[in-house]
Amino acid sequence: MADKVRVAVLISGRGSNLLALAEHKRRDPDRPYEIVLVASNVPEARGVVLAKRLGLRTWSLSHKGMERRLFDQKLDTVLREHDVELIALAGYMRLLSPEFVERWEGRILNIHPSLLPLHKGLDTHRRALLAGDEYAGCSVHVVTADLDSGPVIAQTRVRILPRDDADSLAARVLEAEHELYPAALERYAHELRGAIGEGREGGSDD
Ligand code: GAR
Repeated sequence: MADKVRVAVLISGRGSNLLALAEHKRRDPDRPYEIVLVASNVPEARGVVLAKRLGLRTWSLSHKGMERRLFDQKLDTVLREHDVELIALAGYMRLLSPEFVERWEGRILNIHPSLLPLHKGLDTHRRALLAGDEYAGCSVHVVTADLDSGPVIAQTRVRILPRDDADSLAARVLEAEHELYPAALERYAHELRGAIGEGREGGSDD
């Protein structure tokens, strides 16, 4: 059994969370995960350039004009080719098909820029301000078929300041994301590695 959980990071944009995950691993190679692939539905995304610069393997394919299920099948194939065990969505701005989510049940994490279950979907910071919330924040959750609704495994609150606009709030929440996601992924990978190990022991004939 490989001792590190093989992670694919899925991105669509600038890739700052990808960088945080990669840096966390670089600072301590003993951490229980390794990023074996960065995949994107936006070939020209800044995060893809960044991934290459970091020496990570990349795969990208534009989803434009392609049926969601077909795109996700291609994605699934490439993930399997790389023996991926866990998927980390990091600014992957595309819904996954129910078939894909079912196939990877319990193996997809997402970071979302709100205190879930508040403000699912897009435009979270503006909506937190409009709602008069005292706190914004970010959540890491397990992905299920319903958008931003799977079990939350980690969360950080960020106080909303009187002078905040959506941009200033987004910048502070993003800093919190960069702390939260690596720690949450590390913990989840650790648990997953244990669960895979136990499953294999349980399945043996000894
Ligand atoms: C992050 O703020 C992430 O939480 C958000 O997109 C941004 C990606 O930034 N994700 C979502 O809104 C998912 N619903 P990054 O590309 O710099 O990591």
